[in-house]
Amino acid sequence: PLSAMEQEDGIRQELGSLHGIPLFKSFIEGWPQVKAFQARPDDLLISTYPKSGTTWLSEIMDMIYHDGDVEKCRRDAIYNRVPFLELKVPKGPSGVEQLENIPSPRLVKTHLPVQLLPTSFWEKDCKIIYMARNPKDVVISYYYFHHMAKIHPDPGTKAEFLENFMAGKVAYGSWYDHVRGWWEKKQEKMLYLFYEDMKKDPRREVQKILHFLGKELAEETVERILHHTSFEEMKKNPAANYETMLPTEMDHSISPFLRKG
Ligand code: PPS
Repeated sequence: PLSAMEQEDGIRQELGSLHGIPLFKSFIEGWPQVKAFQARPDDLLISTYPKSGTTWLSEIMDMIYHDGDVEKCRRDAIYNRVPFLELKVPKGPSGVEQLENIPSPRLVKTHLPVQLLPTSFWEKDCKIIYMARNPKDVVISYYYFHHMAKIHPDPGTKAEFLENFMAGKVAYGSWYDHVRGWWEKKQEKMLYLFYEDMKKDPRREVQKILHFLGKELAEETVERILHHTSFEEMKKNPAANYETMLPTEMDHSISPFLRKG
């Protein structure tokens, strides 16, 4: 029934293969620039498999970077405040171009599996926060996202999508390889978080992040961050909920970006 509601608009992409990882063909075309990306030592990388809490963590990080100033965090949409490193679509700037034009310290989003991360992030010893989410929730979130975000191939039925997901035949490949690959690279400069922990005790997880950054914030600032980044607040915040994307790119009437959390 979902597919019947969709308007075909011709921007859906078949997946190509980037070093064995299924990925949008336009992203693969932009790969040389991503591979050569020059990280800066004070870049902070937010790394996730898709649908694992990237936007949530991004909003939390931008709030921390701006000492809980809600107005500053409304300055632009989340996808501009925290550019998507490997993004490359026919219209608009690439992730690399966006990043080149924002001042340090930068927050950078990626879904790349660990083996494909541009080497300069390691060379510059950048801090990295990885967030993993239970795959049963990831696959459902990803399925609905395929319907609403029109870059993705048609997901087929839920059952078919589940099979493809488990076989790693979706954009960014195997969830299993992704979470394990990043886990195995865990070191001092990387914080590995879980969506479910953030849901259960966001205060404790935000404290973990602050400790990792070597930053202290007043109790009331932490309170404000927790409130502003709750599911309910983010769902109604146009700077965080992706509603500013064109409906031909993301159609929230099919399924909202913040669906169930
Ligand atoms: S993306 O497109 O890969 O960057 O998507 P991503 O942001 O990783 O994941 C989207 C899912 O995260 C949920 N979300 C949240 N959950 C709880 N609290 C907050 N504040 C929050 N913000 C986003 C969002 O609702 C998607 O999950 P589902 O299960 O589809 O609702």
